[in-house]
Amino acid sequence: MKKCVIIGGMGLIGLNIADLIDEGVEVYLIDNLSSSSKMTKSKKEIYQKFVSKILKRNNLHFIEEDIKNADSVKKILKNIVPDVVIYLAALLASESEKNPVEAKNVIFEGVKSTINIMEEISKKYKLIYASSSYVYGDFEYEPADELHSKKPLDIYGFWKNESEAWISNYKFKFGEWLIIRPSSVYGIIDPRERYASSCIEQAYFNETVQLFYPEFICDFTYVKDVAKIFLKAAESDVSGEIFNMTRGEARTNKEFIEVLKKYFKNIKIKSHDDRPLNAPKRGALDNNKVNKLFSWKAEYGINDGIIDSINVLDKLFE
Ligand SMILES: NC(=O)c1ccc[n+]([C@@H]2O[C@H](COP(=O)([O-])OP(=O)(O)OC[C@H]3O[C@@H](n4cnc5c(N)ncnc54)[C@H](O)[C@@H]3O)[C@@H](O)[C@H]2O)c1
Repeated sequence: MKKCVIIGGMGLIGLNIADLIDEGVEVYLIDNLSSSSKMTKSKKEIYQKFVSKILKRNNLHFIEEDIKNADSVKKILKNIVPDVVIYLAALLASESEKNPVEAKNVIFEGVKSTINIMEEISKKYKLIYASSSYVYGDFEYEPADELHSKKPLDIYGFWKNESEAWISNYKFKFGEWLIIRPSSVYGIIDPRERYASSCIEQAYFNETVQLFYPEFICDFTYVKDVAKIFLKAAESDVSGEIFNMTRGEARTNKEFIEVLKKYFKNIKIKSHDDRPLNAPKRGALDNNKVNKLFSWKAEYGINDGIIDSINVLDKLFE
């Protein structure tokens, strides 16, 4: 890999990939900053501290652009001619319910348009697309492997599923591609304030930890494990595969907080008992395929992920 474009690169996963990539690779993060525009003032300060630390690295460039502006994106990609494009831009599941047209345009039309542009520019590139375990809908068995039926329940899962179908059916035309299905990714710094990341930050800054949906089950996966697999995917010869990418263990939100308690003795917790709308019933994902494809095993359990997140925050504020 020589030149890598990460579309939606200023989010949790994109920034952690950028932080890992070798400085010899030119990296371009294209993002409209829609997620960071929704942060509170104090959260924005932490985010900006983290971003400026990452952007200091050589050969790393940020370009503010919306993927929906195909003409501008075309000019940018024509100038760069990347050999790897990682497509991460998306709305959250909850945002997609409220704004289904934007969800379609970003999750599905955005990647289609990127592929069309790249076809004109270069026939030799690899596309890595971030899908989601939401494509499965309610889990019918656990751990859910890649052969599990796909019956998405919500708008977000629907467009991720359509993108998967479109990319995998288009493969003969444009060459190399991989589709990665992460789930419940947490770490520093999450501009969307998703559940587990938020809980760590709230505990770290001595705020009351908001325990939402205590019995909701997730396969919590640390962002550095996820970033490593995106990089391996980009650098390897493996192509034409769709695979889950998680730790492979199911835990309730409440259990996550129980682990967090070990590291923050004076933790304050407020419990909310409602359930997220349209969220599928989930559990552990089977990660045998990713382990085999890349001779890899997840390095971070929940304890390790929390300890590492604390270290990252300590370093930001030292
Ligand atoms: N974090 C998770 O738990 C998780 C789980 C499963 C799948 N995924 C998928 O992985 C990908 C990356 O996840 P993440 O956690 O980094 O998400 P994120 O929300 O932190 O990052 C996505 C980025 O896309 C950008 N973006 C949104 N609309 C855009 C547009 N129109 N043009 C340009 N940029 C735009 C946002 O500003 C944001 O920086 C997403 O596609 C997500 O659906 C994430």
